[in-house]
Amino acid sequence: MTIKISPSILSADFTRLGEELKAVESAGADYVHIDVMDGRFVPNITIGPFVVEAVRKATALPLDVHLMIEEPERYITDFARAGADIITVHVEATRHLNKVIQSIREAGKRPGVSINPATPLIAIAEIVADVDLVLIMSVNPGFSGQSFIQSILDKIKAARRMIEVVAHPIELEVDGGIKTANIAAIAKAGADVFVSGSGIFAQEGGQGGYKKTIAAMRQATEA
Ligand code: DX5
Ligand code: ZN
Repeated sequence: MTIKISPSILSADFTRLGEELKAVESAGADYVHIDVMDGRFVPNITIGPFVVEAVRKATALPLDVHLMIEEPERYITDFARAGADIITVHVEATRHLNKVIQSIREAGKRPGVSINPATPLIAIAEIVADVDLVLIMSVNPGFSGQSFIQSILDKIKAARRMIEVVAHPIELEVDGGIKTANIAAIAKAGADVFVSGSGIFAQEGGQGGYKKTIAAMRQATEA
């Protein structure tokens, strides 16, 4: 299975964001994961469409935009225009998920759905056939640097079974607490796209270490 690594820029050095993007790109990243937080759906406030637009100019990698915002329907057009490639919304954040997913498609983007650790997987059963990506949260969204919740491994296995029966390919992404040390178990559970923030950016050796880390992550999933 070919896996994808999506470094989360939440852990990057924002004073040098352009350089950080170039560094993960040349280190072999597949996507750039952008965490958008509104201080309502999650306690933290982070990035908006203007920064996504700047990121778009600084890298050729697909932008994997993770919206942790209430009523994401209000901002789909803005993030699409800013240059997002994948737009992922939370099942917990909107009353009309089907409509939001449709609007992402209509904007010409790849729709994803994300689910918090305590939300039963069944909550996305009716929408999986309409998305290109399922994002399983393995921490409570809001901050980088938290520990992977072990019980989520079973949810990843169940999600793999759920998407397997859909006629088109769906990526199974996992986000939160992913490091070189635990990525193999997460891949074994069925994930194929791995978000990592502190696991890639917050390490000794700085940018020089990104390539080694990403290669080690890939290798661990192949073993
Ligand atoms: C958490 C974010 C994650 C976070 C991952 O709310 O969605 O993408 O940046 O960071 P790590 O890999 O450090 O857990
Ligand atoms: Zn994220």
